[in-house]
Amino acid sequence: MEKPKRASWSGSVAFVLAAAASAIGLGNLWRFPYLAARYGGGVFIAVYLALSLTLGFTLLITEIAIGRYSRQSQLTAFRALGHPRWNFLGVLSTIVPLFILPYYNVIGGWVIKYFTAYLKLVAGGGGLENPQGFFDSFITAPWDPFVCMAIFTAVSCAVIVMGVKNGIEKANLVMMPILLLMAVGLAVYVALLPGAGEGIRFYLIPDFSSCDNLGKVILGAMGQMFYSLSLAMGIMITYGSYMRRCDSVPKASVRIVAADTFVAILSGFMIIPVVVMFAAKSGGGRAAIDAGPGLMFVTLPKVFASLGAAGAWVGFLFFVLVLFAAFTSAISMTEACVAAVCDFFHIRRNAAVSAVMLWTVVLGSLSAFGYGRWAVFKPFGLPALDFFDSSMNVLTPIVAALICAFVGWVLHPKRILAECQRDGSAVGFRLFYAVMVKFVAPLLVLAILISEICRIFNIGGWRI
Ligand code: PFF
Repeated sequence: MEKPKRASWSGSVAFVLAAAASAIGLGNLWRFPYLAARYGGGVFIAVYLALSLTLGFTLLITEIAIGRYSRQSQLTAFRALGHPRWNFLGVLSTIVPLFILPYYNVIGGWVIKYFTAYLKLVAGGGGLENPQGFFDSFITAPWDPFVCMAIFTAVSCAVIVMGVKNGIEKANLVMMPILLLMAVGLAVYVALLPGAGEGIRFYLIPDFSSCDNLGKVILGAMGQMFYSLSLAMGIMITYGSYMRRCDSVPKASVRIVAADTFVAILSGFMIIPVVVMFAAKSGGGRAAIDAGPGLMFVTLPKVFASLGAAGAWVGFLFFVLVLFAAFTSAISMTEACVAAVCDFFHIRRNAAVSAVMLWTVVLGSLSAFGYGRWAVFKPFGLPALDFFDSSMNVLTPIVAALICAFVGWVLHPKRILAECQRDGSAVGFRLFYAVMVKFVAPLLVLAILISEICRIFNIGGWRI
């Protein structure tokens, strides 16, 4: 059978937009702001910036270059690079999106639920008077979380069926500019609210007293950067495999890091001042900016309700923004899974999409029903969604450390650097890259792994 021609992005802008759309997701919108609030505001932001421009950049160019050189998805890329013994790394990097996608789509389903609830609210209906009760009764409902997850999955798979240029590119072209405009608009609206200054100061001014341990700040920032840049999930390898040879890998990587970091910092401007104002009014203190789903699905709806008549619209726009961010990230993960199935089994795209969709809905049902009808199913004592999330938080640093070891000590950094020079531009960071990928990155990534294990088993009071 003749091998079908590999799809490609229509240009450098399309690639950067797609990779940035993958990177900008729930991680930027709720995880970054609460980590910044917990770890000393400006201190966390500075550490995060420094890490993104060094470690994040190194890992990003590595993955994109592996994809573009091999013209394969992560599953078969390592063999295509001439190292079949490292194929297991391709398998590991495929397991990550295969297991993250189902529960990410469950959270995507939650966002659909909130989007429709706010739509009802702006149309004059009710239903969100008690945000905690709304959230609890939704996630424990017999069918709702499953149905919302299935809708979210079906929509992202519909985009994938249309292909790289006609599906992913076009969806990003519509959703990303709207997302950016709304994020800027909401941040400006919040900054103009009376009393916003205190929250902005709280967010930006370094507070060294709340980061008693710089190690924790660095580890928190590193873990966040990892998740936020969609690293070690096969995505950047797959997206890189569609990149044109005439485009520059380093330039694209800098733009992706910049876009991702910009939206993360912007989200802080959107969320922190209103939560601080609300906490001052309701006496909630710092605890209002708590971790986990609580911030997005309980605290923020309370905050929006406190904004009066404008609150319904602010909430609606916010959840449109979150919905787009979640969709574009889920689309990238779905593509990484579909491309792996196509490259491995040499089957048609539509058949691969059906297989991935079935997998996502079946495995996702464990997490969707995990707080309701199947709440008794608690692997290691955790609800299914938390269990999958924790396992993947351990697996991703392992994959990243192995990719660095492979490139640094087996493949050789010069192969990646050669790929970076393919478009004819000079690369001025050869020594920096070699030192980073051989020594610094594997050590830093191992540190995240150890801290993650300590956090899960509650060793040494680690809590990120
Ligand atoms: N990078 C995305 C975010 O910051 O929310 C999340 C994400 C996207 C995670 C793609 C995993 C993934 F495969």
